[in-house]
Amino acid sequence: MKNREFDIVVFGATSFVGKILCNYLVNEYTEPNLTWAMAGRSESKLQALKESLGSNANEIPVIIADSADAEALQSMCEKTELVISSVGPYALYGELLVKKCCELGTDYCDLTGEPQWIRRMIERYEGQAKSSGARIVHCCGFDSIPSDLGVKFLQSHAQRHFGSYCDQVKLRVKVMKGGASGGTIASGLNLYKEASADPAIRKEMRDPYSLCPPDHGFKTRQHNVSVEFDQDFDSWAGPFIMASINTRVVLRSNALVDGFYAENFKYDEAMLAGPGKQGKKTAKRISFGTKVSMFMMAFAPMRWLATRFFLPSPGEGPSPEQQLKGYYDLRLIGRTERGERIRVKVTGDRDPGYGSTAKMLAQAGISLRRDVDAGEVGGGFWTPATAFNEKLITRLVEHAGMGFELESVSQAMTAIEESTVIAVAEPAASD
Ligand SMILES: NC(=O)c1ccc[n+]([C@@H]2O[C@H](COP(=O)([O-])OP(=O)(O)OC[C@H]3O[C@@H](n4cnc5c(N)ncnc54)[C@H](OP(=O)(O)O)[C@@H]3O)[C@@H](O)[C@H]2O)c1
Repeated sequence: MKNREFDIVVFGATSFVGKILCNYLVNEYTEPNLTWAMAGRSESKLQALKESLGSNANEIPVIIADSADAEALQSMCEKTELVISSVGPYALYGELLVKKCCELGTDYCDLTGEPQWIRRMIERYEGQAKSSGARIVHCCGFDSIPSDLGVKFLQSHAQRHFGSYCDQVKLRVKVMKGGASGGTIASGLNLYKEASADPAIRKEMRDPYSLCPPDHGFKTRQHNVSVEFDQDFDSWAGPFIMASINTRVVLRSNALVDGFYAENFKYDEAMLAGPGKQGKKTAKRISFGTKVSMFMMAFAPMRWLATRFFLPSPGEGPSPEQQLKGYYDLRLIGRTERGERIRVKVTGDRDPGYGSTAKMLAQAGISLRRDVDAGEVGGGFWTPATAFNEKLITRLVEHAGMGFELESVSQAMTAIEESTVIAVAEPAASD
């Protein structure tokens, strides 16, 4: 029993996401008897944040720590059971904190979507995390909680209805409304910068299993959606920008789950573009736009031009109105080897990357602290689906505006569709 001063420290409280998260914990959601503190590198910014949050924040302590200051991070990690970090790009500022957490047995959740950095952290610190008992969970925001927990939710219903997991699952983005922050753009640009300087990272970006343990042994070829007609949704589909991190996280979950979902498990993600000629045109436009932006980001002068003139700077992001008007609606379909099918819907209110992500990250941190016993999940690098149990899904539905809904189950032989609503948050997007 560590018995530390705080349950949770929010490191990066003054980031774009961190401010929304702190407001959520101070003014929108109360977790009984939660002791927590706000941390960051700038005392004046932290004090300004406290003032902006109103009188409910008066008693919340503040901790000053720079991500390069080993002593300050050590002292912060010794005081808390768990750190939530939104200090990014993580590949630039995140390593020392992960190292300290792994040394001191402090649990950790973050929002990184940088696979090359996650792989480095696993390689360097997993041994220490296992011996100290630190549970490290990356990707606790829009990437990759809806995907990873969506698949877990689908697979648990597949087990219940068919007695086996689905060996194929696909996720389709039906609707997604939101914007990007400077912090997210900076993280994406840094990934391209690292990749253009290092052929090993470029190779890694082509390997869908790059986050799986080295001895994973998976050989199944994974599908990347470019432009294609999706019969299941009677709609054209184009690439989904978050698929590259989400698919890697889901495939790592498949490797870590006891006995796998399936040894030949296949998973892909795409954006739905609608039916007919118009749908095809939209899918082509999504695909073209994705290719052009990836091509441009590969070159340093283009990155400079984009950040200088077009893209938001760190600290900037969608306005409060845009966050409130945002939402998303994701559909998943799974198939078993015998041809049984199951359909699931995951929704969220607020814009995916910030309004919804901040609530997801807060509930993920609280859930790891409160709902996940160390005997159940020990030290190591986990994915959302392998770290959290169904209590996080309940929290997200009850307190974070998300919906996880079983839409239909069809048996291979009878093709009888049985529709069951399991858990729905306030509808975030219309059918
Ligand atoms: N997974 C998802 O779905 C998702 C969604 C949104 C964001 N993200 C990721 O989350 C991260 C944060 O995004 P954001 O838009 O909120 O970023 P942001 O507004 O640019 O904030 C970055 C934070 O890092 C802090 N920081 C920078 N250097 C530091 C240092 N040396 N020591 C301590 N703190 C330092 C900044 O402190 P100051 O405030 O003092 O400048 C700020 O609080 C990014 O990596 C982004 O990619 C992921």
